[in-house]
Amino acid sequence: MMEPVIKTNALSKTYKNKKNNNNFPALNQLELEIQPGEIYGFLGPNGAGKTTTIKLILGFIFPDSGSISLLGHPASDVAVRKKIGYMPEVANYYWFLKAGELMNAYGKMHQLDSQTRKERCRDLLAKVGLAGKENTLLKEFSKGMLQRFSLAQALLNEPELLILDEPASGLDPVGRREIREIILDLHQKGVTIFFSSHELSAVEMISTRVGILNKGKLVKEGSLLELLPSTRKMRVILQNHLSPEAITRLERKVNSLIPSVEKPIFQATVEQNETILLLEERDHLYPLMRVLEEEKLPLEAVTPLRETLEDIFMKSIQEEK
Ligand SMILES: Nc1ncnc2c1ncn2[C@@H]1O[C@H](COP(=O)(O)OP(=O)(O)O)[C@@H](O)[C@H]1O
Ligand SMILES: [Mg+2]
Repeated sequence: MMEPVIKTNALSKTYKNKKNNNNFPALNQLELEIQPGEIYGFLGPNGAGKTTTIKLILGFIFPDSGSISLLGHPASDVAVRKKIGYMPEVANYYWFLKAGELMNAYGKMHQLDSQTRKERCRDLLAKVGLAGKENTLLKEFSKGMLQRFSLAQALLNEPELLILDEPASGLDPVGRREIREIILDLHQKGVTIFFSSHELSAVEMISTRVGILNKGKLVKEGSLLELLPSTRKMRVILQNHLSPEAITRLERKVNSLIPSVEKPIFQATVEQNETILLLEERDHLYPLMRVLEEEKLPLEAVTPLRETLEDIFMKSIQEEK
């Protein structure tokens, strides 16, 4: 069994706030276990504790309690940090350096020789769509370009673990797609990816597993398949407002066509100008249609019901409230 790439045990952190004594924990007994080769999407609304978790993992801040191990070593082990690449949420650079100069300085920190520094700088800037920008001052970069630069610098040491804090923020759709492609390419090469996001569209497409953090606690975790099982539910919308008697009659008639099922096959919600029937099993759609025709109940729409990651996300956050 391979060692997890990231493992946290009962990790807790409260920021001491002297002014208002508001000592609400930013992170509360967090247990994470990220396996080699995963693309782990660490999701949660603003303030959930994602950046705090990442800073703890990277050793920028320290937990009140709990522990972290990285690639099988304690997180405090300096050697292990060399195997990690990190793209921060907010870029804060030496603005009066040129992109190439800063890449070179980081390359020196990683103890790369001058030839390797030069090659990686050129190749990585090209990889993130900043080819030939070596001599541009960082202060002249747009938000999106800085985001790309941050990704390039995170890859300088060819990390085994890449940690990205909100990588898609500030990027246009093209930039997002490019970042996704770079992540997928690294994943193919065996790099483990841990990234945070408060948005859901990009995540749905590439994560092998997601965890949803809310108010410092992991409220849901699983693969997308586990979290989003394909349902067999259908939503049938009728044009009219049905009376309770009409609904009971409809139920009885439909159920008589499906003798094996005893309980009502749908749940009805009556709105002002329409009636919504939520069907648990799509096989029951045809008997229902037959009765609707008999009863001359006009149909508005029939749609399959599928939960999205966004539904799951909203639900897990609301349950915590
Ligand atoms: N340096 C800090 N001092 C005090 N409170 C902080 C600090 N950093 C973060 N917090 C608080 O901790 C909580 C979690 O923040 P953060 O980890 O940045 O969340 P996220 O990255 O998920 O948006 C928030 O309530 C935030 O206000
Ligand atoms: Mg954050």
